[in-house]
Amino acid sequence: MKKTIALLIVSLCLNISAAEPVNSSSPNAICPITGKAANPAITTVYEDNTYAFFDEASRAKFEADRTASLYQQLGGKAALEAAVELFYVKVLADDRVKHFFDDVSMIKQKRKQKEFLSAALGGPIPYTGKDLRKAHEDMNLTDVHFNAIAEHLQATLEELKVDKALITQAMSIVGSTRNAVLNRPEATKP
Ligand code: HEM
Repeated sequence: MKKTIALLIVSLCLNISAAEPVNSSSPNAICPITGKAANPAITTVYEDNTYAFFDEASRAKFEADRTASLYQQLGGKAALEAAVELFYVKVLADDRVKHFFDDVSMIKQKRKQKEFLSAALGGPIPYTGKDLRKAHEDMNLTDVHFNAIAEHLQATLEELKVDKALITQAMSIVGSTRNAVLNRPEATKP
Protein backbone atom coordinates (compact mmCIF):
# COMPACT_ATOMS: atom_id res chain seq x y z
CA MET A 1 0.00 0.00 0.00
CA LYS A 2 2.80 2.41 1.01
CA LYS A 3 4.68 1.55 -2.19
CA THR A 4 1.56 2.24 -4.28
CA ILE A 5 1.10 5.63 -2.63
CA ALA A 6 4.76 6.51 -3.11
CA LEU A 7 4.60 5.55 -6.79
CA LEU A 8 1.42 7.54 -7.23
CA ILE A 9 2.97 10.64 -5.71
CA VAL A 10 6.09 10.28 -7.87
CA SER A 11 3.88 9.90 -10.95
CA LEU A 12 1.84 12.94 -10.01
CA CYS A 13 4.89 15.06 -9.33
CA LEU A 14 6.52 13.99 -12.58
CA ASN A 15 3.21 14.42 -14.36
CA ILE A 16 3.00 10.87 -15.63
CA SER A 17 -0.73 10.41 -15.96
CA ALA A 18 -2.57 7.20 -15.16
CA ALA A 19 -4.61 5.43 -17.82
CA GLU A 20 -7.70 7.53 -18.54
CA PRO A 21 -10.82 5.90 -17.16
CA VAL A 22 -13.28 5.87 -20.04
CA ASN A 23 -17.01 5.72 -19.64
CA SER A 24 -18.42 2.51 -21.05
CA SER A 25 -20.71 4.51 -23.31
CA SER A 26 -17.61 5.54 -25.26
CA PRO A 27 -17.19 3.39 -28.38
CA ASN A 28 -13.44 3.12 -27.77
CA ALA A 29 -13.51 2.55 -24.02
CA ILE A 30 -10.11 1.72 -22.55
CA CYS A 31 -9.80 -0.48 -19.47
CA PRO A 32 -8.43 1.76 -16.64
CA ILE A 33 -6.50 -1.19 -15.22
CA THR A 34 -4.81 -2.73 -18.27
CA GLY A 35 -4.96 0.15 -20.75
CA LYS A 36 -6.32 -2.33 -23.30
CA ALA A 37 -9.60 -2.05 -25.22
CA ALA A 38 -12.47 -2.64 -22.78
CA ASN A 39 -15.24 -5.18 -23.12
CA PRO A 40 -18.50 -3.16 -22.91
CA ALA A 41 -20.18 -6.10 -21.17
CA ILE A 42 -17.80 -5.93 -18.17
CA THR A 43 -18.60 -2.77 -16.25
CA THR A 44 -18.96 -1.28 -12.82
CA VAL A 45 -20.51 2.00 -11.64
CA TYR A 46 -18.54 4.19 -9.25
CA GLU A 47 -19.65 7.70 -8.25
CA ASP A 48 -22.04 7.98 -11.21
CA ASN A 49 -19.43 6.95 -13.78
CA THR A 50 -19.61 3.63 -15.55
CA TYR A 51 -16.21 2.05 -16.13
CA ALA A 52 -15.65 -0.75 -18.63
CA PHE A 53 -12.87 -3.34 -18.30
CA PHE A 54 -10.76 -5.66 -20.38
CA ASP A 55 -11.70 -8.70 -18.27
CA GLU A 56 -13.25 -9.79 -14.95
CA ALA A 57 -9.90 -9.69 -13.15
CA SER A 58 -9.48 -6.01 -14.07
CA ARG A 59 -12.96 -5.21 -12.80
CA ALA A 60 -12.20 -7.03 -9.53
CA LYS A 61 -8.91 -5.13 -9.14
CA PHE A 62 -10.59 -1.78 -9.80
CA GLU A 63 -13.26 -2.51 -7.19
CA ALA A 64 -10.71 -3.71 -4.62
CA ASP A 65 -8.56 -0.61 -5.23
CA ARG A 66 -11.56 1.62 -4.65
CA THR A 67 -12.50 -0.13 -1.40
CA ALA A 68 -8.92 0.08 -0.12
CA SER A 69 -8.44 3.72 -1.10
CA LEU A 70 -8.03 6.46 1.44
CA TYR A 71 -10.23 8.51 -0.91
CA GLN A 72 -13.22 6.24 -0.33
CA GLN A 73 -12.53 5.89 3.40
CA LEU A 74 -12.52 9.67 3.70
CA GLY A 75 -15.98 9.77 2.11
CA GLY A 76 -15.26 9.97 -1.63
CA LYS A 77 -16.13 12.83 -3.96
CA ALA A 78 -18.65 14.63 -1.71
CA ALA A 79 -16.28 14.66 1.26
CA LEU A 80 -13.31 15.83 -0.81
CA GLU A 81 -15.37 18.63 -2.35
CA ALA A 82 -16.56 19.82 1.07
CA ALA A 83 -13.00 19.65 2.40
CA VAL A 84 -11.49 21.70 -0.43
CA GLU A 85 -14.18 24.40 -0.09
CA LEU A 86 -13.53 24.76 3.64
CA PHE A 87 -9.75 24.52 3.15
CA TYR A 88 -9.69 27.57 0.83
CA VAL A 89 -11.84 29.61 3.24
CA LYS A 90 -9.04 29.07 5.76
CA VAL A 91 -6.21 29.68 3.25
CA LEU A 92 -7.74 32.95 2.01
CA ALA A 93 -8.07 34.21 5.60
CA ASP A 94 -4.39 33.58 6.38
CA ASP A 95 -2.00 36.54 5.96
CA ARG A 96 0.96 34.18 5.55
CA VAL A 97 -0.36 32.80 2.26
CA LYS A 98 -3.48 34.58 0.98
CA HIS A 99 -1.56 37.03 -1.25
CA PHE A 100 -0.37 34.15 -3.44
CA PHE A 101 -3.97 33.74 -4.62
CA ASP A 102 -4.66 37.43 -5.43
CA ASP A 103 -4.71 36.89 -9.20
CA VAL A 104 -5.81 33.27 -9.23
CA SER A 105 -9.28 32.12 -10.35
CA MET A 106 -10.45 30.35 -7.22
CA ILE A 107 -13.10 28.43 -9.13
CA LYS A 108 -10.40 26.83 -11.26
CA GLN A 109 -8.03 26.46 -8.34
CA LYS A 110 -10.60 24.57 -6.29
CA ARG A 111 -11.40 22.32 -9.21
CA LYS A 112 -7.70 21.49 -9.74
CA GLN A 113 -7.09 20.96 -6.04
CA LYS A 114 -10.10 18.63 -5.78
CA GLU A 115 -8.80 16.68 -8.73
CA PHE A 116 -5.26 16.53 -7.37
CA LEU A 117 -6.22 15.46 -3.86
CA SER A 118 -8.73 12.92 -5.17
CA ALA A 119 -6.11 11.28 -7.37
CA ALA A 120 -3.40 11.45 -4.69
CA LEU A 121 -5.70 9.75 -2.18
CA GLY A 122 -6.63 6.94 -4.57
CA GLY A 123 -9.72 8.30 -6.33
CA PRO A 124 -10.66 6.80 -9.70
CA ILE A 125 -10.00 9.78 -12.01
CA PRO A 126 -6.40 10.78 -12.84
CA TYR A 127 -5.03 14.28 -12.15
CA THR A 128 -4.72 16.28 -15.37
CA GLY A 129 -3.26 19.56 -14.03
CA LYS A 130 0.31 20.82 -14.14
CA ASP A 131 2.92 18.83 -12.26
CA LEU A 132 3.36 20.31 -8.79
CA ARG A 133 6.97 21.43 -9.28
CA LYS A 134 6.09 23.44 -12.42
CA ALA A 135 2.89 24.87 -10.88
CA HIS A 136 4.78 26.38 -7.92
CA GLU A 137 8.26 27.04 -9.31
CA ASP A 138 8.08 30.85 -9.63
CA MET A 139 6.51 31.54 -6.25
CA ASN A 140 9.61 31.48 -4.00
CA LEU A 141 7.77 29.31 -1.52
CA THR A 142 9.34 28.35 1.82
CA ASP A 143 8.58 25.86 4.58
CA VAL A 144 6.55 28.57 6.33
CA HIS A 145 4.14 28.66 3.37
CA PHE A 146 4.04 24.91 2.98
CA ASN A 147 3.41 24.39 6.69
CA ALA A 148 0.60 26.96 6.65
CA ILE A 149 -1.13 25.16 3.78
CA ALA A 150 -0.66 21.75 5.42
CA GLU A 151 -1.94 23.16 8.73
CA HIS A 152 -5.14 24.37 7.05
CA LEU A 153 -5.71 21.04 5.39
CA GLN A 154 -5.27 19.21 8.66
CA ALA A 155 -7.59 21.64 10.51
CA THR A 156 -10.17 21.18 7.73
CA LEU A 157 -10.16 17.40 8.05
CA GLU A 158 -10.37 17.69 11.84
CA GLU A 159 -13.30 20.07 11.57
CA LEU A 160 -15.06 17.62 9.26
CA LYS A 161 -14.58 14.95 11.94
CA VAL A 162 -12.47 12.68 9.77
CA ASP A 163 -10.99 9.75 11.68
CA LYS A 164 -7.56 10.61 13.23
CA ALA A 165 -5.73 7.69 11.59
CA LEU A 166 -7.06 8.69 8.16
CA ILE A 167 -5.96 12.29 8.73
CA THR A 168 -2.45 11.08 9.56
CA GLN A 169 -2.34 9.05 6.33
CA ALA A 170 -3.71 11.90 4.21
CA MET A 171 -1.24 14.38 5.71
CA SER A 172 1.65 12.06 5.03
CA ILE A 173 0.66 11.92 1.35
CA VAL A 174 0.35 15.70 1.18
CA GLY A 175 3.66 16.04 3.08
CA SER A 176 5.39 13.93 0.46
CA THR A 177 4.86 16.75 -2.07
CA ARG A 178 7.02 19.21 -0.06
CA ASN A 179 10.18 18.96 -2.18
CA ALA A 180 8.25 19.35 -5.42
CA VAL A 181 6.17 22.31 -4.19
CA LEU A 182 9.24 24.05 -2.70
CA ASN A 183 11.26 23.33 -5.84
CA ARG A 184 13.92 21.32 -4.02
CA PRO A 185 15.68 18.26 -5.37
CA GLU A 186 13.90 15.02 -4.48
CA ALA A 187 15.63 13.09 -1.67
CA THR A 188 17.85 10.37 -3.15
CA LYS A 189 16.72 6.83 -2.41
CA PRO A 190 19.05 4.62 -0.35
C1 HEM B 1 0.65 21.37 0.39
C2 HEM B 1 0.95 21.02 -0.81
C3 HEM B 1 0.34 21.64 -2.05
C4 HEM B 1 -0.41 20.98 -2.96
C5 HEM B 1 -0.81 19.52 -2.95
C6 HEM B 1 -0.78 21.97 -3.98
C7 HEM B 1 -1.55 21.69 -5.10
C8 HEM B 1 -1.74 22.57 -6.13
C9 HEM B 1 -2.38 22.24 -7.38
C10 HEM B 1 -2.94 20.87 -7.74
C11 HEM B 1 -2.39 23.35 -8.15
C12 HEM B 1 -2.96 23.48 -9.58
C13 HEM B 1 -1.87 23.25 -10.62
C14 HEM B 1 -2.35 23.58 -12.03
O1 HEM B 1 -2.44 24.76 -12.36
O2 HEM B 1 -2.66 22.66 -12.79
C15 HEM B 1 -1.78 24.40 -7.38
C16 HEM B 1 -1.64 25.70 -7.80
C17 HEM B 1 -1.31 26.73 -6.96
N1 HEM B 1 -0.80 26.62 -5.70
FE1 HEM B 1 -0.50 24.92 -4.69
N2 HEM B 1 -0.26 23.19 -3.64
C18 HEM B 1 0.43 23.04 -2.47
C19 HEM B 1 1.11 24.03 -1.80
C20 HEM B 1 1.01 25.36 -2.08
C21 HEM B 1 1.56 26.44 -1.27
C22 HEM B 1 2.42 26.22 0.01
C23 HEM B 1 1.18 27.60 -1.86
C24 HEM B 1 1.43 29.02 -1.41
C25 HEM B 1 1.32 29.40 -0.18
C26 HEM B 1 0.43 27.28 -3.05
C27 HEM B 1 -0.11 28.18 -3.94
C28 HEM B 1 -0.61 27.87 -5.17
C29 HEM B 1 -1.05 28.86 -6.16
C30 HEM B 1 -1.03 30.38 -5.99
C31 HEM B 1 -1.48 28.15 -7.29
C32 HEM B 1 -2.06 28.73 -8.58
C33 HEM B 1 -1.02 28.83 -9.66
C34 HEM B 1 -1.59 29.49 -10.90
O3 HEM B 1 -2.73 29.22 -11.28
O4 HEM B 1 -0.85 30.25 -11.49
N3 HEM B 1 0.34 25.92 -3.15
N4 HEM B 1 -1.39 23.91 -6.16
